[in-house]
Amino acid sequence: MVKSFKTFLKHTAKDFHNQSVNPPVVRASTIIFKSMKHIRKTQKKAQKNPIGGHYDYGRQGTSTTYILQKILTKLEDSYHVFTTPTGFGSVFLAIFSVVRPGDEIIAADPVYSPTRVLTQDFLREFNIKTIFYNPHDLKTLERSITKKTKLIFFENPGSNTFDFQDLGKIVSIAKKYKILTAIDNTWGTPYYLKPIKLGFDMSIVSATKYYSGHSDVMGGSLAVNKKVFQKVKAAEKITGLRLGPDDAYLITRGLRTLDVRLDRHRENAKKIAAFLSKNKKIKLLYPFKKNSLNFRMWKKYYSGASGLMGLKIKSNNINSVRKFVNSLKLFGYGYSWGGFESLVLHQEFRETGNRKFMNLAKDEHLVRFHIGLEDPNDLIADIKQALRHLK
Ligand SMILES: Cc1ncc(COP(=O)(O)O)c(C=O)c1O
Repeated sequence: MVKSFKTFLKHTAKDFHNQSVNPPVVRASTIIFKSMKHIRKTQKKAQKNPIGGHYDYGRQGTSTTYILQKILTKLEDSYHVFTTPTGFGSVFLAIFSVVRPGDEIIAADPVYSPTRVLTQDFLREFNIKTIFYNPHDLKTLERSITKKTKLIFFENPGSNTFDFQDLGKIVSIAKKYKILTAIDNTWGTPYYLKPIKLGFDMSIVSATKYYSGHSDVMGGSLAVNKKVFQKVKAAEKITGLRLGPDDAYLITRGLRTLDVRLDRHRENAKKIAAFLSKNKKIKLLYPFKKNSLNFRMWKKYYSGASGLMGLKIKSNNINSVRKFVNSLKLFGYGYSWGGFESLVLHQEFRETGNRKFMNLAKDEHLVRFHIGLEDPNDLIADIKQALRHLK
């Protein structure tokens, strides 16, 4: 009956038992049973149907987390979705589930910098090697494959440089060599891109961003296909990486308006992109200019674009770039994104990490905008006044 996901999000998870439009927040460490017989019955059900929401201890979740998982599983078109206390928890869970000492990972050069530290430095201590590839030259990916390669991990688009890759090609390379795949889909969310349907094994979203949408909660989701489900389930159990019910409730509340907010982020970002694209000092890192490779790769797979974009600014005067950023009045300066409000970040080395394929010249500087839900005319006026400082 309900065909559109927009309608599903508004009507799902009503609680007729408590006569509430929204589900209750069920907080529990002990899941209480009337007798031993009842706990055994639940455990049997859980064994038979591990995705059915049968719990015997609070660390496994409560009905509040289960409702969120069910909504996300539908949105992702996946076999199951695991929810974690942060987005980075989902990144870790995906990798930890399938990689073991002696294995190798192939990761895209522009991954989120903590993901780079985890793979390049931390996992090395466990005899797990990571090789980084150029997101615009998938031959560098294929050439890096060895008998030890277990996982291809990347983010689309790339962190801060917003490189869009040929997703179909990555899936076919992975299938050819029987390698597992994980994509960080926080930028597009499954509202604009459904990676499990495209053939990826795991798909991560930081729920901290657009899912919650109000900059007041952290969380992560890891969607999986049937092939990797048991491995992730076992790793989830042993790491205890599970989202708490209060955060699950807030993320479920945010999801009600995911489509409305993302449509508006997209509209606003398009207007800002049109304005910025006229400035000769700025190269837009956003799928806007139709003839670019990034635009073609975005168009091929995505049904929309979110509000996060990069600006590659050409200037010999770094202080004027800093002044431009500091003069913005409606763009708060801070990490994270995906909330209702606009944000800006001047990307120093700390944020871009030790990349192999970035090729940023000395007179090029990266600035990141998150375009919020304000009136776009106000945002453009703000950017215009701040741009006067750019030399
Ligand atoms: C692309 C991407 N993935 C994962 C994360 C990690 O999410 P969280 O901050 O919820 O741990 C971030 C955070 O900024 C991110 O930008």
